Amino acid sequence: MNVLVTGGAGYIGSHTVVELLNAGHNAIIVDDLSNAKADVIDRIETITGKRPVFYKLDCKDKDGLRKVFSENQVDAIIHFAAFKAVGESVKKPLQYYRNNLDSAMAMLEVMEEFGCKKFVFSSSATVYGPNNPHPYKEEMKAIESSSPYGWTKVMIERILTDYCTAHPDFCAILLRYFNPIGAHESGLLGDDPNGIPNNLMPYIGRVAAGQLEKLTIFGDDYPTPDGTCQRDYLHVVDLAVGHLKALEYAENHEGVEAINLGTGNGISVLELVHAFETANDMKLPYVIGPRRDGDLPAFWADAGKAKTLLGWEATHTVEDMCRSSWNFAKNAGK
Ligand code: UD1
Repeated sequence: MNVLVTGGAGYIGSHTVVELLNAGHNAIIVDDLSNAKADVIDRIETITGKRPVFYKLDCKDKDGLRKVFSENQVDAIIHFAAFKAVGESVKKPLQYYRNNLDSAMAMLEVMEEFGCKKFVFSSSATVYGPNNPHPYKEEMKAIESSSPYGWTKVMIERILTDYCTAHPDFCAILLRYFNPIGAHESGLLGDDPNGIPNNLMPYIGRVAAGQLEKLTIFGDDYPTPDGTCQRDYLHVVDLAVGHLKALEYAENHEGVEAINLGTGNGISVLELVHAFETANDMKLPYVIGPRRDGDLPAFWADAGKAKTLLGWEATHTVEDMCRSSWNFAKNAGK
């Protein structure tokens, strides 16, 4: 298939492009490089031996998208392009709603003009909101979130669902990710956010590299076995393969499907810190700090639907995630 990947130079997008190319698909990347580096395209070529077509383009630019569709046969879309910092979205809600909603809307409108009917959407477990019991199952109500970032995911899921109702020959797969970490085994691709990281693993990587002094663990008085929050961390390469499976499913199906991509296991912050220390044979300086606003004590996926419907399950271990994260972080920025 010829697959247009928006945000394809980003962390999850770039790993997905590698899996697409390795599986024999063609990838066309649309990315404005607002949170990614141009040399990711070269790195993808180094890994796969194939160079994806690349357009430096803001996904809200409908004329730009029309040009992409005119110059390429596009069979399906994987839509990653979005702002994704939870804390920033609370401070800048208009920017988040404008950017994330307009990108998705522009893409859908241009797809309609060109008759493209397969859409894989980068959603998040955040759509389950604060009130569902875990493990989260797809049939639970997923209609609220705790940040403007999360609300954009809820809203785009709704838009795609309504669009599928109006166009029964359209297929939208809503992939609800849990916590992706880890990096490509080559050490060439990984999570390298601009500025001080908000997410746990990139923060750990900077501490391990000596670029940040110590990790602050946000709270150790949660109702969990060791008092720190539990999450379902999954390897980004497993997540990328999940997109490939979703695409192959979408090729032969119509309608909307929400699918969790997680391992089904909860790991605490302290367990992850210790797993990182063991996997990489080092000590990680950390302190316990206050809770972070908006954090939930614990959640993980019921990963059964992905297995039944897509034949997908996570195969990498926590050790793989920790080792590959460090393999990338120790060379990041060089
Ligand atoms: C959040 C979002 C999720 C989003 C993801 C990636 C929510 C509910 N979740 O997940 O939608 O896809 O970010 O952007 O909005 N921690 C520390 N110290 C740190 C950093 C994190 O202790 O310096 C802890 C947090 O308290 C949390 C865990 O590590 O328990 C994971 O945090 P993080 O990596 O930020 O991901 P989430 O908040 O789970």
